[in-house]
Amino acid sequence: MITAIVGCKWGDEGKGKVASYYAKDAQLVLRTTGGNNAGHTVIYNGKTLPLHLVPGGITYPQTTCIIGPGVVIDPAVLLDEIQMLKEYNIPDFDERLKISGRAHVIFPYHKDLDELHEKLKKHPVGTTKRGIGPTYSDKDNRIGIRIYDLLLEETQLREKIEEATILHNQNFANNGMADCVVDPAMLAHQYHEYGERLRQYITDINPIIANALDNDDKIVVEGAQAFRLDIDHGDYPMCTSSNCSTSGALCGGALPPNSSIEVIGIDKAYNSRVGNGPFPTKQSGSVADTIRELGHEYGTTTKRPRDCGWYDCCISNSAKHILGVNYLCINHLDTIGLIGKKLGYIKICVSYNYQGKVIDYYPDDISLTGEVPTPIYEVLSGGWEIDSSCKTYEQLPELAKKFIRIIEKSSHIPVKFLGTGPANDDLIIREDI
Ligand code: IMO
Ligand code: MG
Repeated sequence: MITAIVGCKWGDEGKGKVASYYAKDAQLVLRTTGGNNAGHTVIYNGKTLPLHLVPGGITYPQTTCIIGPGVVIDPAVLLDEIQMLKEYNIPDFDERLKISGRAHVIFPYHKDLDELHEKLKKHPVGTTKRGIGPTYSDKDNRIGIRIYDLLLEETQLREKIEEATILHNQNFANNGMADCVVDPAMLAHQYHEYGERLRQYITDINPIIANALDNDDKIVVEGAQAFRLDIDHGDYPMCTSSNCSTSGALCGGALPPNSSIEVIGIDKAYNSRVGNGPFPTKQSGSVADTIRELGHEYGTTTKRPRDCGWYDCCISNSAKHILGVNYLCINHLDTIGLIGKKLGYIKICVSYNYQGKVIDYYPDDISLTGEVPTPIYEVLSGGWEIDSSCKTYEQLPELAKKFIRIIEKSSHIPVKFLGTGPANDDLIIREDI
């Protein structure tokens, strides 16, 4: 059985917590899309580990953890992460981490190109500047360099870099970024060395996956990014460059589409976004400030303050169809209660006014109409506090249960998980669902 953990909005929904819950008794855990634009926090022996590439499931000693072919890897970042994890003495780390040789490599010139594109655009995306988009576009253009290539002779790697950077170098030279022009020999030397340091982890992941599927093992896909950031289904062009929805996540992990799979859509009790693009329930002023401060909404990867707004059921409803979400996890149920107490009310977007009609899904054509849907809210008066003794759904304050019922009714998805605090076990699981 595959359990896919996917973000329902614009990322940072707290995917790590439910991923951890499933990884506890899983045999295989995979990262399958994106790169170090993702920032996932994992708690290990009471310490918070910020992870960008290695699946958080690595903290459970029985797991094999795979970085799949759909991921783009900055080797310097990965090596730092490996070193950090080894300092925490994670058991059998070297035996359990597997990196697909087919994953593509992020080079410094990809980060420079990311910077250049953002600088030249009238409407920048607000990327993480980690080189994600340029690496995926080189991959699509078949001039990408794969992790396998780092294991070639240095001269062969140099030739590949030379070929890949002909046009990039012209772009740098013509746009006042001559200092970014690539020296293939130098890069080949450095990245060949990274390859040597990563060699023990680099492998053909297909037999590992085939074996796990044959044994009916528990497999967890730790999604990165989220529905509205998906290159095909998200807010194009204000999105990331990978298919981070469920189908893309399976593809990026070499997981067959006819597997038996359940999809857990991860959400927060309010919504946040970092970077530019439409956000129908976005708030400003003191409401946004209250949500941001109480939810600590600052980027793990870039430390940017996130835009904040109310929970949007229309997007969740669309995620049900496009991502195949079976169950929702609503994180920050404690935080929204405090927000309600401070402001005196909580809003939930249950439908939209869009193009003169009331709809309950996220429209596909807003880049064409230029109209961001207007939320129609249900409003709850007051808020709540959840104390640490609250371990079941029944024990939750009545208003919190009402909040969840509104989400279930308008999203058309059962809420199985509720995040009630920052720790991994601040998680209520509704076994009856
Ligand atoms: P996790 O996995 C939040 C956003 C960026 C930007 C857009 C494109 O932690 O939920 P990119 O660098 O990918 O080209 O930037 O996507 N973005 C994220 N926002 N969480 C993430 O990942 C994100 N990954 C990318 O802010 O708007
Ligand atoms: Mg993030």
